[in-house]
Amino acid sequence: MDLTIGPNNPAMPKHIGIIMDGNGRWAKKRGLPRSAGHKEGAKTFKKISEYCQKIGIKYLTVYAFSTENWKRPEEEIEGIFALLHIYIWNERARLIRDRAALKFIGDMSRFSPAIMKDINMIERDTGMFDDLHINVAINYGGRQDIVHAAKVLAKKVKDGEITEDDITEESFGRELYTKDTPDPDLIIRPSGELRLSNFLLYQSAYSEFWFSDILWPDFTSDDLDRALIDYMQRNRRFGGI
Ligand code: IPE
Ligand code: IPE
Ligand code: MG
Repeated sequence: MDLTIGPNNPAMPKHIGIIMDGNGRWAKKRGLPRSAGHKEGAKTFKKISEYCQKIGIKYLTVYAFSTENWKRPEEEIEGIFALLHIYIWNERARLIRDRAALKFIGDMSRFSPAIMKDINMIERDTGMFDDLHINVAINYGGRQDIVHAAKVLAKKVKDGEITEDDITEESFGRELYTKDTPDPDLIIRPSGELRLSNFLLYQSAYSEFWFSDILWPDFTSDDLDRALIDYMQRNRRFGGI
């Protein structure tokens, strides 16, 4: 079995999903405010996305803010979106240089014009690139994603654009926020939690899962290598034998 990590090994996953969890606990352990954990987590995201591109991953979807994360204190939420602004502007030139596309998935209707301006700018300036596709999930919930797709299809039926029979697993998938992305092969969750927390529910039907106790700010490319080596040794049967 070839367990080489790199772009030439066909056993490597094409799409990796990561639930970037554990920032708050990382900060708490050090007596720092939660915002310090999010700042360090953003650095990890930058490093891991660069590494993914180096080893030939085509699609990386990271969970940055869930539809349930609005329950947090306003100050923490503001801090997270301030970091997003900084990340987008700091990374713009590098993403263009490395020909990596940055996109956002989730319900964008709740964001301020200032946040939408950053998002539209970076999607416009990097959207044509194909070396690595990075999807950042913000105000994302798997259930919301499914309900949204159902509403789009219901409207198409109502308007006579399609019929009920045109609704298939494929056409449904094309209305999800991940429409241009293959299903995730591997979903990684650090921080010790063994759950999906509403991440890519429809898309993860046959994903492989990899959990670890490492807190996201401490996650390194060596940890990703460990996940990849485990993944490549799994027998994905998709219901067959
Ligand atoms: C993940 O880290 C980041 C977001 C959910 C925005 P957490 O903030 O959930 O960190 P823990 O789980 O409290 O340690
Ligand atoms: C999931 O983490 C969301 C993100 C990492 C963005 P949470 O910290 O919100 O999940 P729970 O509350 O532990 O399930
Ligand atoms: Mg958490």
